Amino acid sequence: MHELSETLLAFAAHADRALERALPPADQPPVDLHRAMHYALLGGGKRMRPLLVYATGHTFGASPGTLDACAVAVEIIHAYSLVHDDLPAMDDDALRRGRPTCHIAFGEAMAILAGDALQALAFEVLARDTAEHDAATRVEMMRVLAAACGSHGMAGGQAFDLSAVGQRLDASELERMHVHKTGALIRASVRLGALAAGCRDENLLARLERYGHCVGLAFQIRDDILDIEGEAATLGKTAGKDAANHKPTYPAILGLEASRAHLDALTAEALDVVDGLGEPATHLRDLARFIATRAS
Ligand code: IPE
Ligand code: IPE
Ligand code: MG
Ligand code: MG
Ligand code: MG
Repeated sequence: MHELSETLLAFAAHADRALERALPPADQPPVDLHRAMHYALLGGGKRMRPLLVYATGHTFGASPGTLDACAVAVEIIHAYSLVHDDLPAMDDDALRRGRPTCHIAFGEAMAILAGDALQALAFEVLARDTAEHDAATRVEMMRVLAAACGSHGMAGGQAFDLSAVGQRLDASELERMHVHKTGALIRASVRLGALAAGCRDENLLARLERYGHCVGLAFQIRDDILDIEGEAATLGKTAGKDAANHKPTYPAILGLEASRAHLDALTAEALDVVDGLGEPATHLRDLARFIATRAS
């Protein structure tokens, strides 16, 4: 497994502190809702989407403080998506990040509301980033995030996922599902990092878009493989659920070996497109390698 560098671990710790600051106090009413939001957002998670924001911004010389709002907003959307993904009506999972899922700990209604409130909070965080970015940039950040999590992004991908249960998808339908449900938010993380850092170079933005596409798809293929090869103790979530739920996944459709080969090809392409960006893009290369080999 490719380990995260000291700098990336420091970025993740920085993200944790920024996430804590973004939440309403847990002892403020409605207490159950605020506690459920804290539970869903803090105390675990690789913080992969904030890391992509920081790594992209770093490539253009931006300081972490300039990138915090985008890093926090994407992770809040991700946390909300996990709460809803685990609900009985969706994947019906009991374990997340090594603990009972939000609906097991707080009840289904509170978990739905925690997801709703987290989604709203993500946009509030971007709207409030007045010290770092002008109004036009903040509107663009909100547009990028909304597109990534709406019906043409993550929520749309989750709809493809649910309607595909028990179906035999072909490779392009499978790719479309993954590119939406997981890829959209990962691509947005890269896009937001570039936006917050002030990158307006069309050629560079196109390269980063391709990088985001490759690592976003690679991320979900690795997730599908880990569901088969991993164990709950390492994953922090129940293994073997995709097969049990009759989900169409890369290994289920292409087989494990072809899935691994596709993951490797996507990683090689991601590394190749940022190759010319030199030393500042080190963290983007590290993240591509980590995503391909991660154990949890
Ligand atoms: C899990 O995401 C859900 C997918 C989109 C595959 P992560 O693997 O990033 O989950 P955490 O945030 O580290 O718990
Ligand atoms: C989740 O995909 C994608 C989301 C948008 C949350 P999975 O359903 O495979 O994620 P896990 O395996 O439960 O983390
Ligand atoms: Mg799911
Ligand atoms: Mg799931
Ligand atoms: Mg999964």
